[in-house]
Amino acid sequence: MSTVSLKPLSITQIMSTVSLKPLSISTFISHNPNMKSFKLQSHYKTERAHQFDVGDTFFRTESATARDLGVLSAALYRNTTGSLRVLDAMCGCGIRSLRYLAEADADFVVANDANEDYREIISENLSQVEGKRWEVNHLPATRLLAECYVRKDYFDLIDVDSFGSGSSYLRVALDAVKLGGLLYITSTDGLSSGGHRPQQSLAAYGAYVWPLPYSNEIGLRMLIGGAVREASVLGYHVVPLFSYYSYHGPVFRVLLQVKRGKSPSSRYYSFISYCDRCGNTRAISWSELGEISCLCSTNASRSLVVSGPLWTGPLHNAPHLTEMMSLADQWGWLSDGEGKNLEKLLKQMIDESDPKLPVGYLNADEIASRAKLNLPPLNTIMNSLHEGGYAVSRSHIAPNAIKTDCPMVECVKIVKQLQQLAEMSSYH
Ligand SMILES: C[S@@+](CC[C@H](N)C(=O)[O-])C[C@H]1O[C@@H](n2cnc3c(N)ncnc32)[C@H](O)[C@@H]1O
Ligand SMILES: [Zn+2]
Repeated sequence: MSTVSLKPLSITQIMSTVSLKPLSISTFISHNPNMKSFKLQSHYKTERAHQFDVGDTFFRTESATARDLGVLSAALYRNTTGSLRVLDAMCGCGIRSLRYLAEADADFVVANDANEDYREIISENLSQVEGKRWEVNHLPATRLLAECYVRKDYFDLIDVDSFGSGSSYLRVALDAVKLGGLLYITSTDGLSSGGHRPQQSLAAYGAYVWPLPYSNEIGLRMLIGGAVREASVLGYHVVPLFSYYSYHGPVFRVLLQVKRGKSPSSRYYSFISYCDRCGNTRAISWSELGEISCLCSTNASRSLVVSGPLWTGPLHNAPHLTEMMSLADQWGWLSDGEGKNLEKLLKQMIDESDPKLPVGYLNADEIASRAKLNLPPLNTIMNSLHEGGYAVSRSHIAPNAIKTDCPMVECVKIVKQLQQLAEMSSYH
């Protein structure tokens, strides 16, 4: 492929030069046979030793960890099933497609981005890979996924790295994924997870959500809940292999495994109540809806808000995360400079997977304000909770919080006891 070297022009400059009705760059090139290929200005980046051009495509360096997690899961899937066909529905410059091919050894990848102007960049990036194991498309994701379904062309992994709620892609993505296959979905809808747009979250995910102290965990649970609902319409169910919140954006990402048949129980698709008075959170099953109250009060209407339905089960699958960790180690990803954060993240996620841990987390600031004292280090509180028989872990979502099945009221009591003990020992 020959590339003419031109000083890069903006699309508007090109349009004004040729005075035509606006054309995409690829259409413009095909109308100008002397110009075999046109390339946007290059901006080279490196990720996990791959050099690639991002040009003027949408690219975030901060999403590298999300790409690591997707690639590790894809590679594990390939090791288990012996095949890996990937549909990267919103590929940007094609970095994920490149990594699914080069690192997870995908048999074939469809790299799609609605923006035709990205064609050269995507193709150039993917041409580093040996063998013609990829193709580039420029369809709206919904149409591409629907066409795959119609052709019965099912994929092992569908990656939809969308902006906004992402909920409009769920049904078609579920249609086009193999049973047993993986769906890697994204939402950037931080306003809905924050409970600031309950009508919007109701429309997108079927969940009415109030502002809660652990809204970023709610963002993940709403997204999984939306997929649970869409899957059940088709007679499938989904289970999260991992759920990953990252603050830049914010971005909520979930890797789901799609399974045949309805979910064995509705236990993990239900409601949660939060009591403003005592800070307690409780999962409420569908059959308990008429009997909602909090342990601290019978006058529920004043202090309780109920959000849902959403996913109330574990955010991750611990055995899958453990395999991801050992593969990352085998690939040398944990020992290099980029690896420290990945190792910490995977460890925290494994701890968070304990099925005894309920929805949400207790923010240190909220515990301190309810206890009316300065908190000891979080590790000290966690040890006490553990000794008291409670399940406890850090949250990968909020560094200054703990996940525990200890109600807020009890936690406040424990923190006060710790304070008394500290005072007594300093007195002696
Ligand atoms: C978040 S970016 C993708 C980033 C890329 N996955 C990565 O990891 O670097 C979203 C991409 O979706 C494309 N896009 C937006 N709407 C689309 C649609 N309806 N169908 C397909 N692509 C779309 C945009 O052009 C943009 O490149
Ligand atoms: Zn209460």
